[in-house]
Amino acid sequence: MKVNKIVIGCDHAAYDLKLKVIAHLNAQGIETEDVGTHSTESCDYPNYADALCKKITSGEYERGILICGTGIGMSIAANKHKGIRAACCSDTFSARLTREHNDANVLCFGARVVGEGLAYDLVDLFVSTDYEGGKHARRVAMLDELDK
Ligand code: RB5
Repeated sequence: MKVNKIVIGCDHAAYDLKLKVIAHLNAQGIETEDVGTHSTESCDYPNYADALCKKITSGEYERGILICGTGIGMSIAANKHKGIRAACCSDTFSARLTREHNDANVLCFGARVVGEGLAYDLVDLFVSTDYEGGKHARRVAMLDELDK
């Protein structure tokens, strides 16, 4: 089932793409909360990953999107938070499967890696693809154990 609200963040490298992604999500009725950054001025991506992950671990949001230059720094920072399963994706197969198999709650990608059209496809899959559970639930539970 498609989520009806999502939290989103970026660093300076991804500011322009983030605004386009927000407009794309809003156009389909998905509310967005933007945790920043709010300009193209150079900034530190871990701050925005941290702000976004706290909105998810607190239960305020189910899923979030983090965009930096590569998506990698954001995913590393996000995965340091207990309960966060962040996936850095630059193809649609991975974006779909990380929802179905990993129950990923944060999607990361790079504004210097993917174009605008692919970014829209990635976020569309991420907001609309359900977790399959079943045999994958045991493995996701093992990820939770690794948090401890
Ligand atoms: C910023 O130059 C860049 O390092 C950042 O956006 C990101 O790609 C880090 O992983």
